[in-house]
Amino acid sequence: PAVYHFENEPDTDFILPANRAWAEAIRDKWQHIGEREGGFSAYPVIGGRIVQRDETVTVIDKSQYHENKRAGSYVEATPEDMAAAIDTAQADPDGWRKLTPHARQKIMMEVAHAIRVARGDLIGIAAAEVGKVFTETDVEVSEAIDFVNFYPYSVTKLAGLTGVEAKGKGVGLIISPWNFPVAIPTGGIAAALAAGNTVILKPAEASILTAYRLCQCFWEAGVSMNTLQFIPGRGSAVGEHMIPSKGIDFTIFTGGEETAYRIIKARPDIHLSAETGGKDATIVTAMADRDQAIGHVMASAFHNSGQKCSATSLLVLEKELYDDEEYKRQLKEAAESMQTGSVWDFSNRVGTLVDRPAGKLAQALELLDEGEEWLLAPDYADRGNPYMLTPSIRWGTASGDFCHMNELFGPVLSVMRAEDLEDAIGIVNATGYGLTSGLESLDHREQEQWKATLLAGNLYINRGTTGAIVLRQPFGGMRKSAIGSGRKAGGFNYVSQFMDITYRETNL
Ligand code: NAD
Ligand code: ALA
Repeated sequence: PAVYHFENEPDTDFILPANRAWAEAIRDKWQHIGEREGGFSAYPVIGGRIVQRDETVTVIDKSQYHENKRAGSYVEATPEDMAAAIDTAQADPDGWRKLTPHARQKIMMEVAHAIRVARGDLIGIAAAEVGKVFTETDVEVSEAIDFVNFYPYSVTKLAGLTGVEAKGKGVGLIISPWNFPVAIPTGGIAAALAAGNTVILKPAEASILTAYRLCQCFWEAGVSMNTLQFIPGRGSAVGEHMIPSKGIDFTIFTGGEETAYRIIKARPDIHLSAETGGKDATIVTAMADRDQAIGHVMASAFHNSGQKCSATSLLVLEKELYDDEEYKRQLKEAAESMQTGSVWDFSNRVGTLVDRPAGKLAQALELLDEGEEWLLAPDYADRGNPYMLTPSIRWGTASGDFCHMNELFGPVLSVMRAEDLEDAIGIVNATGYGLTSGLESLDHREQEQWKATLLAGNLYINRGTTGAIVLRQPFGGMRKSAIGSGRKAGGFNYVSQFMDITYRETNL
């Protein structure tokens, strides 16, 4: 029977002694995984089978840079593998598309349970592979379970409407980023499967091992290796060999805007859901609970080393706060207290960057615009580990400066001064992005003014800008943050974009 009920999965409470012991067991299993039989291995999964070959790509354990450890390895998919995966997905040999929404829902509930059981493994692999602290991946796993439970539930609601016939579009290609190595691929897979499509996952190169462990949960639970196939490979190869294929019926992409534009250019004829970057801001007015605002900003700016599309990377202070030397000191001290270091040491709040600073992040670390200064200069923790960038704060960013207009994707917070709330809103809207945004103010009129004029997909009042919860805060941006025709992830309209829907009426 269908389950017409949805509840969010709870996160782990790491304060409880039993859960702390569980965290230690995860550490014991994964911290030195590379030393046991070469570590965790991932393979292409195509046409119902695991493709093993002698030639492998080594995955370095970034959380332990100085030890030069490996986390595992993967077999890279070839162009022939990609073509075979598309053929299989089109043929749908196991008949996933023919199942009723309720039958799919039943299997997906088993998947949710398998992910629940694998929570510790996913936390451990993500720690080694992308340097994510345990608590951050834990939240992601809850979100992943929510996606797997929620999307089939939303489809059964649609299927229950009189006169509506909804069928999957065919074959969905999911292209995911590394910064949410669990939740984002799960969201794409779960939505496409729930809608009645066969699916091919192409995870980011940096998070292939985590994605493979995630897919094992689907396979164990009864989604076959023909229905969900796995392509570990480079983005450029997938861009060349899969995107142009007529066998792909739609793409769910999350990543940078340039990649999204490339996909649109290559395939303007298919549906693309493209969630891209943000230049997300928090405005703190003179009417804020000032201490609470600091806590929210620190978590939003620096957790996961600021590598979230939803991270606060601009802090716009109303002049009363900006000019207050005591508030400035408090902000600096709060950022200094965000202890950076190995993810295997649970006292650290900030872990490892996925890569050495490059591109816009590297530029921001080297350049200060006129009048700008470091309130807290960047540094490298753990004996100068180039992946362990400490939180930093730039003070005095002016309108149009590099750090006003560019997504940095690192633990760098830029602070700007606003005359009043209207000025602050203008500063934020000028970025051209529109993903998340925060307001810290206890004043109802200010809240209304901000809600009416701030241009972003997710608006949060007196709350951090990261960590949207499925169904409660359906997630997705506007303007430069949503280049494709995507709809809110974790909301009721999301799945229908991967279906062809017919409305029928019969006059008796
Ligand atoms: P990216 O665009 O470089 O890569 C994303 C994915 O696209 C990867 O799997 C990559 O291999 C693949 N790819 C790269 N080139 C490709 C091509 N030519 N054809 C097909 N696929 C290709 O982005 P990233 O560096 O992995 O992620 C960071 C970006 O993602 C940031 O801009 C961030 O804001 C954004 N992001 C957005 C959201 C959101 O929900 N809006 C969530 C997370 C990350
Ligand atoms: N959904 C993620 C968040 O809200 C990106 O932080």
